[in-house]
Amino acid sequence: PPDIPLANVKAHLTQLQSIATANGGNRAHGRPGYLASANYVKGRLDAAGFTTALQSFTYNGATGYNVIADWPGGNPDDILMVGAHLDSVTAGPGINDNGSGSAAILETALEVSRQALQPTKHLRFAWWGAEELGLRGSAFYVSNLPATERAKIKAYLNFDMVGSPNAGYFIYDGDDSDGTGSGPGPAGSAQLERVLQDYFASIGVPTRGTDFDGRSDYGPFISRGIAAGGTFTGAEGIKSSAQAQLWGGTAGQAFDVCYHRSCDTTANINDNALNRNADAVAYAVWTIGAAVPPT
Ligand code: PHE
Ligand code: ZN
Ligand code: ZN
Ligand code: ZN
Repeated sequence: PPDIPLANVKAHLTQLQSIATANGGNRAHGRPGYLASANYVKGRLDAAGFTTALQSFTYNGATGYNVIADWPGGNPDDILMVGAHLDSVTAGPGINDNGSGSAAILETALEVSRQALQPTKHLRFAWWGAEELGLRGSAFYVSNLPATERAKIKAYLNFDMVGSPNAGYFIYDGDDSDGTGSGPGPAGSAQLERVLQDYFASIGVPTRGTDFDGRSDYGPFISRGIAAGGTFTGAEGIKSSAQAQLWGGTAGQAFDVCYHRSCDTTANINDNALNRNADAVAYAVWTIGAAVPPT
């Protein structure tokens, strides 16, 4: 699997920050900064050879958009989806939440194109609208898919907040190994968790599980029984002293002190966390999606 260039991921964040600054300081649902963000992502994917669609929906009297990008090829009945929400809250530019996940999956998609990857699975990337208003874009996408199309999606990987300044290294707990939360994810989720665990083990970074608590866009997928996974570096939760021992950073402080605030700018990014998570996205896409078929 490739090493995703951190500079490229950060260049996307600079673009998203500029879009927010030029549009009243945010990239929220129904605001001009959201559509500009969607057009930025779509433009980069179109130029790289993806088949893209801007899927619109209405929520709260405003039009929202999902960007859906398919990489031509692979088994059309065996789809790996990779997603991140692209909207911010109205309070700020949303660079860690969730420019970070959006940029990490965008640069992974662009790397797929640069390498002219011929995966076994069909790859589909998604940037969701209106997550901050209750997972509206991802819920719209899943509920509007015909059952036959939904059945082709064999796995969904979600990346929401992957550059938190006081980062933790969390992987969605597909097998509920800690016995907390609402239990394991759908069948197949544990395998997705294991692939991400393998990546972080390979770079010597310890990880912990985080429950499928319904707070991000995997929600509509797991409700339909689709296997899900992904990573997260923490939001408003407070880093414990045990976690600071494990990962460094500051105990007694939030993983992201600027969560949902105006200070969630390009200054609110831990480069090391962003770099590791972008590489984890690529590792998962290459390992799960692009495994060489047995001969
Ligand atoms: N989805 C939350 C938000 O966008 C953040 C979050 C992600 C919280 C993952 C928990 C787990 O505000
Ligand atoms: Zn948020
Ligand atoms: Zn988020
Ligand atoms: Zn687990």
